[in-house]
Amino acid sequence: MDEKVLDSGSLNEKKLIELAHEARKRAYTPYSHFQVGAALVTKQGKVYLGCNIENASYTPSNCAERTAFFKAVSEGEREFAAIAVVGGAEGTEGKETCSPCGVCRQVMREFCAPEEFRILLEDGKGGILNYSLAELLPLGFGPENLAR
Ligand code: THU
Repeated sequence: MDEKVLDSGSLNEKKLIELAHEARKRAYTPYSHFQVGAALVTKQGKVYLGCNIENASYTPSNCAERTAFFKAVSEGEREFAAIAVVGGAEGTEGKETCSPCGVCRQVMREFCAPEEFRILLEDGKGGILNYSLAELLPLGFGPENLAR
């Protein structure tokens, strides 16, 4: 966790999870009925929310995490501290652990330092799991692998 961001003022782990739950309310999921919300915080403390957005043609569907990242990057953000992710079937509270898919982990890898960037999840028991990106995407392939 970037302590500067998440321990200062009103923004902490719990608040970021709460914001992810807010984002989840806007999930568009007529096909899977599985709703995901994400709250992505920049190193400056600005939060971008995302939800999953599905499509009748299925493959254009976008995960909540990537919605949040693409919103942020398209607004000029490049430096991120953490993301909270919550999810669950429609009609549930989304308090079980919902871990980011592999594609979203790879998108995080593009913009985030694996040892620094934090991923916050519900632990299913009222607490919060806090992983580094390196833990969830070990030995990942990133931009520096292409640098020469
Ligand atoms: N989904 C996410 O939004 N994020 C994840 O980390 C896992 C899966 C979405 C994609 C799809 O809309 C639905 O959940 C079921 O896979």
